[in-house]
Amino acid sequence: MFGLNKTSPKFCDLKGKVAIVTGAQRGMGRAHSILLAQAGAKVVLADLTAEGCQPVIEEIKKERGEAIAVKCDMAQKADIDNLIATAVKTFGKIDILVNNAGIFPFKPFLEMQEADFEKVIDVNLKGYFLAAQAAAKEMQKNQPNEKGLRGSIINIASIAAIVGFPGLTHYCASKGGVVAMSHAMAQELAPLGIRVNNIDPGAIDTPGASMANMDPKAKEAMLAPIPLKRSGTAEEIANAVLFLASDESSYMTGSVMVVDGGWVAG
Ligand SMILES: NC(=O)c1ccc[n+]([C@@H]2O[C@H](COP(=O)([O-])OP(=O)(O)OC[C@H]3O[C@@H](n4cnc5c(N)ncnc54)[C@H](O)[C@@H]3O)[C@@H](O)[C@H]2O)c1
Repeated sequence: MFGLNKTSPKFCDLKGKVAIVTGAQRGMGRAHSILLAQAGAKVVLADLTAEGCQPVIEEIKKERGEAIAVKCDMAQKADIDNLIATAVKTFGKIDILVNNAGIFPFKPFLEMQEADFEKVIDVNLKGYFLAAQAAAKEMQKNQPNEKGLRGSIINIASIAAIVGFPGLTHYCASKGGVVAMSHAMAQELAPLGIRVNNIDPGAIDTPGASMANMDPKAKEAMLAPIPLKRSGTAEEIANAVLFLASDESSYMTGSVMVVDGGWVAG
């Protein structure tokens, strides 16, 4: 009865699902897009330029996946509305939203200008709110599955929602806001069959947070509090995204998955 056999569905199968990934041209967004497509989803990649997403689209198409790219600045409501409308027009519905686009420009607290703070909040928090709201309005139109579920929203937050990082006051505020906002959204959207979960990545080696050119001493200090003694990969976060996107996580909403090599458990 238990275990896989030839007739068992594939684990984390997303065949027939439509997913949007923001910040999809590189780093974690690229990894989420490729893995969701490999699991069978049609993927809408959103980033500051559509051209920048083309190499990822080519990778997906090489494996016979389906994907399109849409230019979307997450600080602009009109761009987000266009992203949602384009996804529905192209693929007919939205099942999964991965709010991933984020910026983390370091600035000492005492030098941080109002505009610096607002920019980070606009992209990392307000953009997540606007995209989630617009996507949820579409998800509520989906036929529910046998458990009454219609959609899954995954917000990429950060362990910066839990611990403070010098130079990132605005970023910590935005990520703490994402987690708190997701808790409230999960309450309101559960009756509609829409799940909302967070992922808190730790130190992940991506183009935006590259460890390659880091001073060895700084790198050693960064890895010191991490029990697994290494940074994570974008693919290790994508695995968590795939699980939360799929029906295998059907009883999870309002949760926070910490994927950080044990950092905040210390
Ligand atoms: N890398 C880490 O260590 C780490 C840790 C915790 C959380 N995170 C979060 O994970 C997410 C992905 O980070 P990453 O490391 O892959 O970053 P990255 O800089 O490598 O990639 C971010 C992507 O977002 C896009 N982007 C930036 N501003 C945008 C905007 N206004 N509208 C649309 N797209 C925009 C960029 O063009 C880029 O493609 C972010 O939300 C980040 O805060 C990263």
